[in-house]
Amino acid sequence: MRRKFIVGNWKMHKGPADADSFADGLKRALAGKNAAVDVGIAPPFLSLPAVVARLKHTGIQVAAQNLHAEASGAFTGEVSGEMLRQAGVAYCLVGHSERRQLFGETDAHAETKVLACFRSGLLPILCVGETLSEREAGHERDVVTRQLTAALGKLQADQVPSVTIAYEPVWAIGTGKTASPLQAQEMHATIRGWLEASFPAFVARSTRLQYGGSVKGSNAAELLRMPDIDGALVGGAALNMEDFLQIIAAAG
Ligand code: 13P
Repeated sequence: MRRKFIVGNWKMHKGPADADSFADGLKRALAGKNAAVDVGIAPPFLSLPAVVARLKHTGIQVAAQNLHAEASGAFTGEVSGEMLRQAGVAYCLVGHSERRQLFGETDAHAETKVLACFRSGLLPILCVGETLSEREAGHERDVVTRQLTAALGKLQADQVPSVTIAYEPVWAIGTGKTASPLQAQEMHATIRGWLEASFPAFVARSTRLQYGGSVKGSNAAELLRMPDIDGALVGGAALNMEDFLQIIAAAG
């Protein structure tokens, strides 16, 4: 009942012209194919309008990488969920580990940003995951559970399945070091267990959990075969058409 969902997070890559030509290529490559897999891309803010226009009526989803919690105001350099919705964006990443590690975002920010997504009509993709030292100390489950509780704990049960939860162990991001399928499955089962313990049963059954961290064409199939892995949040490999298509094909 959970359709696989593959999202490419471009991070700070591909300006409007490159983004438009990639989106055009993706649209052509997927036309009439992979109807069983949901696909999305998350370009930088400035490239969103070109990508939204290019992917209109294709079923390929467009996500922003961040938003500000307020609808508008004196917040120089920020972009609100309402503005993203007005620009035709459907999804938004929240709490990506780079936001947490490099830009000082906390669990409290993740909570307010998830709420801002619901207020503005965006579908959140909440990123959670432990650092290497947290894993080495044996705290990975506590860390992820804490992140989930902070960001999602107070939502209404019927809101939660609109959230995609991306488990991205920080030590696997951009390092070429992927979590093994079993390691990833173990944490996904923990996340689903948290959903089961926190909400009525339909929530855990229907909420999609993505894995992220050095996903490539060569390892996607074994990860996506795991029972609680419903998709992937792909960084580096999503910048290359051939690699991204290979990952999408592995999900089909
Ligand atoms: P990589 O796939 O480059 O490791 O990045 C993962 C990621 O951070 C996706 O959000």
